[in-house]
Amino acid sequence: MMKVGFFMFLLAGSVMLQGCDVLDPEQIQQRQHLPGTDFVADPQHGEALFHAHCARCHGEKGSGTDQGPPLVHQVYRPGHHADLTFHWAVKDGVKQHHWHFGDMPPIADVSPQQVGHIIAYIRREQRKADIR
Ligand code: HEC
Repeated sequence: MMKVGFFMFLLAGSVMLQGCDVLDPEQIQQRQHLPGTDFVADPQHGEALFHAHCARCHGEKGSGTDQGPPLVHQVYRPGHHADLTFHWAVKDGVKQHHWHFGDMPPIADVSPQQVGHIIAYIRREQRKADIR
């Protein structure tokens, strides 16, 4: 009886270890729909992407419209909405909670890399407006 218990313990242990070492940092980023570890964000590129995919609701330069809130706003400063919340917003959409514009739908045709560029652009505009 003891022996079976010990065997199960070893088996569980080795399954757990395998679960860990199959994931390298690159795969973790991919699973979480984040850009690769060597990704370099370009705010200039982000500006064009924001214009194409986000501005119809979040406004030119992220200043808001009647369809969505401004992102260049204290509510979205890095300490209150970390970069991860941008990735989640684009991948899964956002239930209305801070404002009264309704829900944000998932934005299907924007990749994690493209979101990374957009974040760099929004953070740059926030810094210009002294939102840190
Ligand atoms: C169809 C309109 C629409 C489009 C297009 C849109 N959004 Fe939104 N988004 C919203 C609305 C509305 C909210 C506010 C939800 C609330 O908090 O009430 C929001 C909220 C957000 C938030 C805050 C998430 C949070 O955790 O509170 C982020 C970040 C965001 N949007 C990023 C983006 C980006 C980046 C794009 C372009 C790739 C985009 N949105 C495109 C409507 C839109």
